[in-house]
Amino acid sequence: MMTNDVRRAGRALVMGGAAVALMVTVACTATPDVSTAAAKDPASAQLARGKYLVAIGGCNDCHTPLKMGPRGPEPDMTRYLSGHPESMVMPPAPKLEMPWMYAGNATNTAYAGPWGISYAINLTSDEATGLGQWTEHGFVQALKTGRHLGIATGRMIMPPMPWPAYAQMTDEDVKAMFAFLRTVPAIRNRVPDAIVAPVMPPDAAPAPTAPRP
Ligand code: HEC
Repeated sequence: MMTNDVRRAGRALVMGGAAVALMVTVACTATPDVSTAAAKDPASAQLARGKYLVAIGGCNDCHTPLKMGPRGPEPDMTRYLSGHPESMVMPPAPKLEMPWMYAGNATNTAYAGPWGISYAINLTSDEATGLGQWTEHGFVQALKTGRHLGIATGRMIMPPMPWPAYAQMTDEDVKAMFAFLRTVPAIRNRVPDAIVAPVMPPDAAPAPTAPRP
């Protein structure tokens, strides 16, 4: 069991990490009333908790394509958490002049930097292209160890996915996010594979740092 202080600290780090990684300001979605749901039964309390954590954890900022709204870029909720749009085939990454270091696209789902090219994945429940095939264990391991698919020998999960922040969450909270994500309506959208840079230049921005104690 974790104390409330630890939970609070974890939550603050999650929010901090997401805020740092977020380069555009987007509208927030409403958070559910967790206390009402908790009163009903543990399963719905877990879902409400997961929905809340996904909302405050900033997952939308990268995993839901942005569209231009009256007040600037906002998540396109018709494509909620479906990742980089399959139809948006990215041209080669622009050559940047130092100290410009990385580039992001209009939907804030594709990123090019010293690490290579990364795409926000499809987090919907879709069997073929989303989290449908993921296990809870794999999801927890991915977020807590920063290894692709949660496989111990897998490559590191690349920026700007702020996994070092999420690694501070309790297993219980990560599981709650997974439970909620499994209920997100399936959207079939095959996100391109990431391209890992062969060698990261020595003067490149650091990869995500190891989780702080
Ligand atoms: C700042 C952008 C950003 C935010 C915020 C973000 N992600 Fe990601 N996420 C990414 C990118 C980019 C990738 C792909 C990274 C790669 O291919 O290595 C990714 C990958 C993932 C993966 C797959 C990891 C793997 O095994 O390869 C999962 C699961 C995931 N994100 C869940 C989440 C959840 C849950 C949240 C919110 C709590 C979240 N992400 C918030 C950008 C983000």
